[in-house]
Amino acid sequence: RTFLQILGRVTLTVILTSGGLIYYSAWKDRHPGDQLPHDPTKKTIVVLGSGWAAISMLKSLDTQEYNVVVISPRNYFLFTPLLPSVPVGTIDPRSIIQPTRYITRHKARRVLVYEGEALAVDPNAKSVTFQDTSPIRGEGGPSTIEYDYLVYAVGAETQTFGIPGAKENSCFLKELWDAEQLRSKTMDCIESAAFPGQRDEEVNRLLHMVVVGGGPTGIELAGELHDFVVDDLRKWYPELAEKVRITLIEALPNVLPMFSKQLITYTEQTFKQNNIDILTKTMVKEIKPKSVVVQDPTGAKVEIPFGLLVWAGVRNTLRPITKDLMAKLGQAQTNRRGLTVDDNMVLAGSNGSIYSFGDCTATSYAPTAQVAAQQGTYVGKLFNQMAQLAKLEAELAQLKKEKADLNEIDVVNKKIVKASKMKPFQYSHQGSLAYIGSDKAIADLPFLNGNFSSGGVATFLFWRSAYMSNLFSLRNRCLVLIDWAKVAIFGRDVSRD
Ligand code: FAD
Ligand code: NAI
Repeated sequence: RTFLQILGRVTLTVILTSGGLIYYSAWKDRHPGDQLPHDPTKKTIVVLGSGWAAISMLKSLDTQEYNVVVISPRNYFLFTPLLPSVPVGTIDPRSIIQPTRYITRHKARRVLVYEGEALAVDPNAKSVTFQDTSPIRGEGGPSTIEYDYLVYAVGAETQTFGIPGAKENSCFLKELWDAEQLRSKTMDCIESAAFPGQRDEEVNRLLHMVVVGGGPTGIELAGELHDFVVDDLRKWYPELAEKVRITLIEALPNVLPMFSKQLITYTEQTFKQNNIDILTKTMVKEIKPKSVVVQDPTGAKVEIPFGLLVWAGVRNTLRPITKDLMAKLGQAQTNRRGLTVDDNMVLAGSNGSIYSFGDCTATSYAPTAQVAAQQGTYVGKLFNQMAQLAKLEAELAQLKKEKADLNEIDVVNKKIVKASKMKPFQYSHQGSLAYIGSDKAIADLPFLNGNFSSGGVATFLFWRSAYMSNLFSLRNRCLVLIDWAKVAIFGRDVSRD
C-alpha cells in the first residue's frame, strides 16, 4: 500500500510538473518581451520567403546586430513533411503552420514583416520591388526596399513539364491551400459517386484516385488515402468504399529512388497488400478533365479514367523572379536547374550581397527541407560571425586611434583572424523517412558510416516521434498530438468544406 501511495504521488507530481512547465512555456511564448527598435547604424538584411530556408536562417540570426525585413506572400511557415496528412483530415491544416510574426516577435530586435510578393531584385541598386498580391489590397502599389544583404529563399514551383492539361486538370500538394482544395475535391468525388441514377462506369470513375509521381510525396499521399478509405469511408460509405481504387503512376522502373532497394521492395509489397496499384515505367502524357493518357511500358498509349488526380511533387522548376534574377546576373548564372552559389551560400555574381539557399538553388544536395534548414541555420550563423568581425575591426581601429598597447592590439588582431575564417557549409544527412499507410513507415538512417534501413509499425512510431520533435513550436506539437488522438478516438471527419 505504501509503495502504491508513493507511486501515485510521484506520478501526480510528474504530471503536475510537466503540465506546469508546458503551461509556463506556452504562457512565455504568448507574452514576448519588448524588442529593440530598428537601428539606422546597423546593416539591413531583407529576407525573401518564409519557408524552411528563410525561417531557419531567422531562427539562428542574432537580430541585435542587424535590421531585418521579411517579405513573403505567405505570412506563415509550413511544416511540409506532414502536409500529405492534411488532405484526408489526419491532421488539421492549422496544426502544421506557424505565423511568421510569432517567430519574429521573439527576436531581440524588431523584425518588419510584409505579406507581399517580391516582383524583382535589382542586384546593382541592391533593392527589391515587392507588392501585396493578396485579394484585399490597400492603397500601396509596388514598393521598393534597399538592402545591404539579401537573403533569397523563395523556393521553387511545381514542374509539370508542359504536359497538356496537367495544370488545369490536376490537384497539387505543395502549399497548404493545395491540401485544403484536395480535401474538398476528394469528398466531392465521394459524394458525387453517392448521387443516385448513375452508370456503374461513372461511379467507378469518380471513385478512382490517381497519384502521379512515386517520390516520397506521392507515396505518403497514396498511403494516407488508403487509410482514409479503410478507417473511415468503409464506415460512413460502406457501399462505395469497396469501389474506391487508388493508382500510383511513376515513370521510372521503381518508386522512391532515394531509398534503399530493400525499402523500395517493402513499400511495393505493402501497397500491393493495401490494394494500391503501382504503375511503374508508365509516363503521363496528357491529363484530360476526366481521364489521364499514359504511355505504358510497352510504349502503347492508354487512357485511364479518374475522379481525382494529384500531381504529386514531380520535381521543381524555378519561379519567374528567379529566372529574372539569373538573367540580370548574366554569365555568373547559367545553370538551368537553379541559382549557383558558393560554399558559403553567396550567390555567384552578386558581389557578396546576396545569399541564397534551399529549393531555388542548384547544389549537389537534394531539394529537401533537411538541406534548406541546415543551410538556413548556417547562413544565420555566418551573419552573426560577420557582425562579430565588424565589431572587432571597429575595436581595432579605435585601439589604433588611441595608440593602445601593442599586446592589446595583437589580441584583437588574433580574434579578427579567427572570425575571418568562414567555414564552408557542410551538410549532415539525418536520414530519410516516409509514411506508407496502414500505420507503417520506412526509414533509411545513417548508422556507423553505413546505413540502417527499417520498415513497419515500429518505424511508424519512430516517424511520428521524429516529426514531433522537429515540429516548429510547442503549440504545433500539442496541436498535432491532439489531431492524432482525435483521429484515433473519433476517426477522420468526412464533411466537405
Ligand atoms: P519553401 O519552403 O517552398 O519556401 C519558399 C518561401 O518563399 C515560401 O514562404 C513562399 O511563400 C515564398 N515565396 C515564393 N515566392 C516569393 C516571392 N516572389 N517573394 C517572396 N517570397 C516568395 N523535405 C524533407 O526533407 N522531408 C520531408 O519529409 C519533406 N516532405 C515534403 C512533403 C511535401 C508535400 C512537399 C511539397 C515537400 C516536402 N519536402 C520534404 C521538401 C521540402 O518541403 C522543401 O525542400 C523545402 O520546403 C524547401 O525549402 P525552401 O525554403 O527552399 O522553400
Ligand atoms: P520527386 O521529384 O522526388 O518525385 C516525383 C516523381 O515523379 C519522380 O520519381 C519522377 O520520376 C516522377 N515523374 C515525373 N514526371 C512523370 C510523368 N510524366 N509521369 C509519371 N511519373 C513522373 O518529388 P517529391 O516526392 O515531391 O519530392 C520532392 C523533394 O522533397 C524530394 O527531394 C524529396 O526527397 C523531398 N521529400 C521528402 C520526403 C520525405 O523524406 N519523407 C517527403 C516528401 C518530399
